[in-house]
Amino acid sequence: MPVIAVIGAQWGDEGKGRVVDLITEKSDVVVRFSGGDNAGHTVINEFGKFALHLIPSGIFSKHAVSVIGNGVVINPKSLFQEIDMLTSRGIDASPQRLSISDRAHVIMPYHLILDELEEKALGSNAIGTTHKGIGPVYSDKIARHGIRVGDLLDKKAFKAQLKTILERKNLILTKIYGVEPLSLEKVYQDYVEYGERMAPYVRETTVMLDEALTAGKQVLLEGAQGTLLDPDFGTYPYTTSSSPIAGGASIGCGIGPTKMTSVLGVFKAYCTRVGSGPFPTELKDEIGSMLRERAQEFGTTTGRPRRCGWFDGVAAKFSQTVNGFTGMVITRFDILDVMPNLKVCTGYKLDGKVIHYFPSNIALLGKCEPVYEELPGWLTCTENIRNFADLPKSAKNYVKCLEQVSGCPAVLIGVGPARDQIIEKSPII
Ligand code: GDP
Ligand code: IMO
Ligand code: MG
Repeated sequence: MPVIAVIGAQWGDEGKGRVVDLITEKSDVVVRFSGGDNAGHTVINEFGKFALHLIPSGIFSKHAVSVIGNGVVINPKSLFQEIDMLTSRGIDASPQRLSISDRAHVIMPYHLILDELEEKALGSNAIGTTHKGIGPVYSDKIARHGIRVGDLLDKKAFKAQLKTILERKNLILTKIYGVEPLSLEKVYQDYVEYGERMAPYVRETTVMLDEALTAGKQVLLEGAQGTLLDPDFGTYPYTTSSSPIAGGASIGCGIGPTKMTSVLGVFKAYCTRVGSGPFPTELKDEIGSMLRERAQEFGTTTGRPRRCGWFDGVAAKFSQTVNGFTGMVITRFDILDVMPNLKVCTGYKLDGKVIHYFPSNIALLGKCEPVYEELPGWLTCTENIRNFADLPKSAKNYVKCLEQVSGCPAVLIGVGPARDQIIEKSPII
């Protein structure tokens, strides 16, 4: 009963969707366990090009079933838009193929409004969120006044619950932010309708997963965001609000940590970040712009330009430490094909000393200057290479360097966005 977790190892957008799409072929169940529609996972396969935000990238499989786990937060409007988009393109996203945990929390209209208002209030210190209501909905979950998917199904109890919550939210909206209150009747009607449409999808998904594991099925856990956006280990407070790491995978779907057989860390061959917060190896020069243009580094969810920089080996080692990766997936390797010289950060210079750990304090991290190892590029197109042995020597050396700095063996190397543009350096299953 192998359980494979695919985890973002940097600041998100590492190519998790394409890796999940690839491994889905060998899986029976694919589960999203964290985040919400702040995620944007690109999949390019025989059905076309898709940007998925909430629905697991396993939905294209005729064989595997997809699960939105308890750790995910759901904006019902986005969910139905995504189901409708998939259906219109011939992909089956019916309740036979997709299950939603009754424990998953629901993004309400006040979460969306508060995300915008809180960001605005932060002014130049804004986090640069996706404005999808993520911080406010997870705050309510932890503060124990959230609304869960299962709550929408009992209309009478939901009305009473919503009335109490909305009274408090409306006080915040009107008294703190001076904006219009929300109408209880309107929110109630909208969400009762959402609940009715969602009902056939809603299941006790932990039971489903337990049964699948007992039957020896292969389960794939699809991470969202990335380790350096984790609220505990990321560049707090410039993080997201749910845990994208391997430990979060266990909590976000109800599979015990001892059941996980592989934890794959997905790393870009360089680094990117969207939104604010420290990024030691960021390139604010023409190399950074070149990477952005060549790789079309623009957000899948918001379209914002992604900040680009060299591979950060100190951050990668930290990511390996907190996740315990069993293997490293390197994506976008082909993007570096045109670079005559490459740099990999192997340490940070902080107050005159070289350190080899990722500081927890963002003021310190912001002061860190990267120490680089320089490597020659390979100046060869790798897009059609499928065997590791066929890579040019300097490309192999670059992979070796990433393995050494991160402390993690490379298993897959992406040399293009399509499903088959991958080098399997060692078997993942
Ligand atoms: P995710 O959020 O981790 O699923 O990643 P995104 O989909 O937001 O961003 C990753 C981008 O990289 C997408 O545009 C993918 O199509 C693309 N991509 C993934 N792997 C590769 C690769 O090996 N080479 C190239 N050129 N593009 C890739
Ligand atoms: P995937 O799954 C990249 C970033 C936002 C912002 C911070 C907080 O596609 O890798 P939030 O809306 O979560 O409160 O924003 O987190 N962020 C992501 N960056 N990829 C993502 O998801 C992200 N999800 C959130 O840009 O800096
Ligand atoms: Mg993304």
